[in-house]
Amino acid sequence: MGSEGETVCVTGASGFIGSWLVMRLLERGYTVRATVRDPGNLKKVSHLLDLPKAGTHLTLWKADLSDEGSFDEAIQGCSGVFHVATPMDFDSKDPENEVIKPTIEGMLSIMKSCKKAKVKKLVFTSSAGTVDVQPTKKQVYDESCWSDIDFVRSVKMTGWMYFVSKTLAEQAAWKYAKENELNFISIIPTLVVGPFLMPSMPPSLITALSPITGNESHYFIIKDGQFVHVDDLCMSHIYLYEHPKAEGRYICSSDEETILGLSNLLRNKYPDYNIPTEFEGVDEKFEKVVFSSKKLRDIGFEFKHSLEDMFVGAVETCREKGLLPLSHKNTQDS
Ligand SMILES: NC(=O)c1ccc[n+]([C@@H]2O[C@H](COP(=O)([O-])OP(=O)(O)OC[C@H]3O[C@@H](n4cnc5c(N)ncnc54)[C@H](OP(=O)(O)O)[C@@H]3O)[C@@H](O)[C@H]2O)c1
Repeated sequence: MGSEGETVCVTGASGFIGSWLVMRLLERGYTVRATVRDPGNLKKVSHLLDLPKAGTHLTLWKADLSDEGSFDEAIQGCSGVFHVATPMDFDSKDPENEVIKPTIEGMLSIMKSCKKAKVKKLVFTSSAGTVDVQPTKKQVYDESCWSDIDFVRSVKMTGWMYFVSKTLAEQAAWKYAKENELNFISIIPTLVVGPFLMPSMPPSLITALSPITGNESHYFIIKDGQFVHVDDLCMSHIYLYEHPKAEGRYICSSDEETILGLSNLLRNKYPDYNIPTEFEGVDEKFEKVVFSSKKLRDIGFEFKHSLEDMFVGAVETCREKGLLPLSHKNTQDS
């Protein structure tokens, strides 16, 4: 697969990962059809329209995962599709209809559009939530692991509807791809961190930067965290899309760190923030849980960014956009 002159579709293009992926695809010479729910909402799309080459190589298309067939038009004429969109409302009052149903039915609707358009490859941005949500934790996870849906539905932990939606959508996609001989691969990122183009705080940074913001309800998610830089993740999407031998699932995760290690890193870099020095149940000896990217590395992909790059990129972008104070010291003094 070559990039020059090729047209591809990116769903969820206005979001944290989607917009960075669009930027990298444009740089590589692709013509990009970006789907968003409201192309007229300039607050949500101007960061796409302002990208280099957007004037000549980018078009916006209206599509919603809840509307069967709404991706048909955007996908017709594309050789590849990157399905990134997903509903992320953890506080939904009706999770079955607002999160789970649109994620699964939207996935299948996109696959039908791909089949009709004879798309060469569909790349799905899956989630670590399809892999490790189980009653007992393992030390190492690989692509053979799947979350236990009965367990998730019985415990109903924070974000349970997201874990159910992504797991069932990916499983339905594998079944559809097999039955319809669609060239399909999935990429499984852990927590995605780094700089960003969108104007508001990306959902994963609410979690990743919780030691700075003091949002304690998110601490448990990164108690033993695994992380990937947004740029490495987007480049892995393009790498696997272009690689003729890519098949199956690929975990994409470069670093693991506990919330304690992370807080030490952040405190060293940003001494003006009040960052906790202790977290319940975590000490220096706490064993880190690994999401293995061996399969991705074995096919030739190289990660370029460190954990420090991820967090410095995220903090600096938040500061530039006024989403984080420059210091906690002034807040305390005033
Ligand atoms: N960030 C992470 O740490 C992380 C980790 C693992 C996996 N992922 C996966 O990566 C993908 C992108 O996540 P992100 O972090 O970029 O989140 P995000 O910033 O919230 O982007 C998701 C996008 O999906 C679109 N969307 C939501 N509901 C939709 C619907 N019903 N129909 C069509 N589009 C809809 C939204 O765009 P509009 O409002 O413009 O339509 C939104 O911009 C998701 O599939 C997620 O599961 C993310």
